[in-house]
Amino acid sequence: MNIEEEKRLAAEAAGELVKDGMRVGLGTGSTVAFLLRAIARRGPRASFVASSPRTEAAARALGLHVEPFDKIDRLDLAIDGADQIAPDGWLIKGGGAAHSREKIVAASAERFVVIADSTKLVEALRPPVPLELQAFGLAATLRHLDPTQLRDSPASPDGGIIADYRGPVLEPAELTRRLSETPGVIAHGLFAPGLVSELLVGVGDSVRRSTIGGTQ
Ligand code: A5P
Repeated sequence: MNIEEEKRLAAEAAGELVKDGMRVGLGTGSTVAFLLRAIARRGPRASFVASSPRTEAAARALGLHVEPFDKIDRLDLAIDGADQIAPDGWLIKGGGAAHSREKIVAASAERFVVIADSTKLVEALRPPVPLELQAFGLAATLRHLDPTQLRDSPASPDGGIIADYRGPVLEPAELTRRLSETPGVIAHGLFAPGLVSELLVGVGDSVRRSTIGGTQ
């Protein structure tokens, strides 16, 4: 199994979804890096918003037209990678610490397409779950979220502290509720199936396409 090749295949399949006139959200990570190159090669007259400074810089360097994401209220399409994909469509994201912005981008899109290699498919989600936390009251927030470890990485572009929840992920909906209700949590890396339109997963030399709730 060639993981890089699986990423490339999934990314190229997703790149074909980008059409002239679309507004498209771009995720973050190594699979998205393949996506940016695939889009740039095809050259659609689309505009883009980026979920991280890294993606924005890479997209601009490839000649993609990146717009600020403050006055655009909806996107036609968003495409992003994932760290873990459960059979029922729950995701864990944020290995690259961009999950807060990634979730805003995904939630604003008519269609959110996840691209991944086959190593991201899991039977059940497992820790860690990436978090972005407010600096104010950080020690108290961490006490509520035990066991959570601060990550040795810079603050997010929005000033949030990056950490990882290391407790069990037995019931993702229940953990989502707990994390969302904890004061001081800006965002967490659990993405519910309702957010995801479609999965494009590179498996060997082909791309497995599925919608959440059924394979196409
Ligand atoms: C970035 O914060 C993450 O959510 C990425 O989308 C995720 O980690 C997948 O990254 P790779 O494509 O590098 O595996």
